[in-house]
Amino acid sequence: MLFRRSCTYNVEQSTRHYAKSSVTLCNLGVGATFGESILHDLPRDSTVVTKTTCELLRVEQQDFRLIWEKNKELMNDIITNCKIKNGFGPGVQPAAATSPTKRPLSPDHPNPALPITETPSPAMNRMGWALRTLLVVDNSSCLKDRKVSGKLIRKCAPGTELVDWLVNLAPIVHTRAQAAGMWQALLEEGVLTHVNKEQPFKDKCFLYRFRLDEEGGAPAAGIPQAEDLSAANEHIREALSALFQRGPDATLRMILRKPSHERTPEELELVFEELVHIAALSHLSTSIKRELSSIIVFEAHAQAGTILFNQGDEGRSWYILLKGSVDVVIHGKGTVATLKTGDDFGKLALINDAPRAATIVLKENNCHLLRVDKEHFNRILRDVEANTLRLQEHGKDVLVLERVAKQRGQHSAFKYTVMSGTPAKMLEHLLETRLGQSVSGMDPFLDDFLLTHIVFMPVVQLVDELANYFHCDAHEEAQTPEDREYIINFKKRVIQFMQKWVMAVRHAAFEEPSVCDFIEDLAAEVEADPDLNEETSIIHNVLTQMARYQEDRNQNAGQKWKLPTNGQPICLFSGNATPSKTVIRPDDDIIFRVYCADHTYCTLRFPMHTTAELIKACAADKLQLNRGPDDLCLVEVKSNGERSVFKDNDVSIPTGLTLNGRLFVSVKDHLDALTQLPEQECPTEGVDIDLEILSTKELAYHITIFEWDLFWAVHEYELLYHTFGRHHFGKITANLDVFLRRFNEVQYWIVTELVSTQSLSKRVGLVRKFIKLAAYCKEYQNLNAFFAIVMGLSNMAVTRLHQTWEKIPSKFRKIFQEFEALIDPSRNHRAYRVFVGKLQPPLIPFMPLLLKDMTFAHEGNKTSLDGLVNFEKMHMMAQTMRTIRFCRSRSLGLEPPSPKSEGEVRSYISSFRVIDNQRVLTAMSQKVEPTRKLN
Ligand code: CMP
Repeated sequence: MLFRRSCTYNVEQSTRHYAKSSVTLCNLGVGATFGESILHDLPRDSTVVTKTTCELLRVEQQDFRLIWEKNKELMNDIITNCKIKNGFGPGVQPAAATSPTKRPLSPDHPNPALPITETPSPAMNRMGWALRTLLVVDNSSCLKDRKVSGKLIRKCAPGTELVDWLVNLAPIVHTRAQAAGMWQALLEEGVLTHVNKEQPFKDKCFLYRFRLDEEGGAPAAGIPQAEDLSAANEHIREALSALFQRGPDATLRMILRKPSHERTPEELELVFEELVHIAALSHLSTSIKRELSSIIVFEAHAQAGTILFNQGDEGRSWYILLKGSVDVVIHGKGTVATLKTGDDFGKLALINDAPRAATIVLKENNCHLLRVDKEHFNRILRDVEANTLRLQEHGKDVLVLERVAKQRGQHSAFKYTVMSGTPAKMLEHLLETRLGQSVSGMDPFLDDFLLTHIVFMPVVQLVDELANYFHCDAHEEAQTPEDREYIINFKKRVIQFMQKWVMAVRHAAFEEPSVCDFIEDLAAEVEADPDLNEETSIIHNVLTQMARYQEDRNQNAGQKWKLPTNGQPICLFSGNATPSKTVIRPDDDIIFRVYCADHTYCTLRFPMHTTAELIKACAADKLQLNRGPDDLCLVEVKSNGERSVFKDNDVSIPTGLTLNGRLFVSVKDHLDALTQLPEQECPTEGVDIDLEILSTKELAYHITIFEWDLFWAVHEYELLYHTFGRHHFGKITANLDVFLRRFNEVQYWIVTELVSTQSLSKRVGLVRKFIKLAAYCKEYQNLNAFFAIVMGLSNMAVTRLHQTWEKIPSKFRKIFQEFEALIDPSRNHRAYRVFVGKLQPPLIPFMPLLLKDMTFAHEGNKTSLDGLVNFEKMHMMAQTMRTIRFCRSRSLGLEPPSPKSEGEVRSYISSFRVIDNQRVLTAMSQKVEPTRKLN
């Protein structure tokens, strides 16, 4: 066995029949090994002839066998690959045995020995023809018929000799590498081929030949005539210069088609230098580009119309378009975008672990792509990939995504989250990435969408879009099994969406007739489609919930509410429902008074959703204000005389009034003439009882039960209506209004009780009782009442009662200080947030803070950014809305402290006697404890 050090050998093969005419099979260079047949005692199957002076390392048969015995595993490779590496041996097959047309271009494992075009371009064909012509007529040429493994190969030449010839021929070629690149340029278009299509062009002893000389080659492949020679000579300069230009790119493409372990350090350097110039990678660090150099793959597709991958497929690679263009096609939409040279695509499915969001179809012949496969993408790029991804349709941004860090317990390390988008595209993205079997782990996008879509996508539009998705097969006549599977998946996602929707917003979904109709249609379709068998139980469950809602609605139809003459509270006075947990509905009636400037009034009865405009018109008519609607307005006059005018399209007006506010209809120009009624300065209606005799714990218990029911009736959507303005939605916020009024009611009840208690000792007793009440409410996790009580005790009219506070035992004062610290608004209510963050449901949150968070998110962020919905804002709002859901996620199961005076306490706490005019309260406080005069 010999190892060559510095020499050139010809390896020649001769058979008995060709004893005198041996064929040079290949040229061996430095590093080659030969003579391995000694291992099996076989006769030498070729002759080795030195071409130059040689230095060899020789291993004797005996030693070779010994080494072999000890290192079989290591040497196996040398022995078996020895011949192949040297360009012949068992791997060498006659060209005809493997037809190039039968070997498809395999994008997964591109073979650098195969052409990247289906047929050579005319220009390359001509260059190849000119070179071949010159080679054939050159008598000393390397292009010879050679026998390989007993088979004659016509007009082939070893790579080394082709390089020699080209270096000699073309003065512009200075290095062997340049010449090799030029031959590779011919090889990648199929003008030149390796004899058995296994090697790209190498400056080695592998044998190559022209396509023209392959079996079935063009008839022109005969011996060139004189005129051919002169035409070739004429063309050759131009051909060489063109090939010279193409060489480096061809070499690079060849490297990029080799498996990573075959890329040499020099080749990796070449790739790296190329990657530096690719815009799609410009944001990546040098070290990442170096890592990419070894695994990035070149992929070429010859035919326009080729589908690179289909929407719904599993994502396996990320692509950069180097040459050509591709169409992005979406089911039911067609081509939504065309990507051009330099664009990248396919990241979404990899990062989101979701199916492909679109089909990619080649728009042109001969598209060139760079590809990074999923495993490498995840290892190298996933953590460092660009933070923002913009998807376009028809030249406009439709979805902007941002990479987010992993949430604990989430399936994938990183996901894209939606920053902004068009409503329809966000819905599409949601259906395709957040629903279906492939999705695991909780992700807030779906929930955010369900909680906030009413801001940017009205229910009717959402139902329309869902119906379109569900019926995406309506216009497709012939369906392949793959299409059918795809369509079924889409239908399944719509059903799952409906289930999640109903779970997230409950009865609010059923309040829209379009939703109910859609659910019924879906149920019918699901039942009729055997492919949707599994979805039957889901849609039936939705149907059951819908039926329950409708039944409840019918039972409670005709609920009536009253806003008593003396302000608050709203009370139910008829209807079938039990008073607890009664939701105020848009078409419930409410009876209320509307006054005019002279304090005469009319009593009206209207559904909750009636607009201010209608109330105004009706009141004006009843009160005989003979003015046109444009001259009039509906106004609230608060107990302190403040006025606030309603918009004509505002709804749920009576519930929106402040505690002791009154509704007026007024001529717009005479608003100044409106004064409050004398009764507004007096306490509201309520049970008069001696508080002292009521157990504090029992009070806290019943307050909590009562407020839990009010809180329970508030729908998360009401926070949105309240924040954006009810008039935008035409939706009532009556339940939220009542709950907020309750907060003020409790707060002012504390103050009213204290300033209207004349006896000092009774006041002291009351303060102690209220501090204890706050403590019990805190214990019951009714933080809304806790805040209201502590705020009431901190009201200026109470804090100034020094004689009272002086008599409060220090133990109570200390507790009160702790309570004050808890409601301290500084650092955005940090103390409260930390405290409440540790609580488990059920709990009643401090609602005004949730509303403040909503307002903060609303006022600090635009709803629309460059025509796209600012979904970050929706996410912020949904977080607050989810707090409500969390608080109510367990039902309230408090142990009643004692059943003794239940009825009495319950009726007392349900409507407190309240003065909400601060001036009056301060005056009363002054009266019970006049300000001490300083001597
Ligand atoms: P992915 O979902 O992995 O596969 C299809 C790719 O098409 C997708 O990633 C995006 O990179 C790309 N694409 C470009 N424009 C759009 C678009 N408007 N909608 C969806 N995908 C798009």
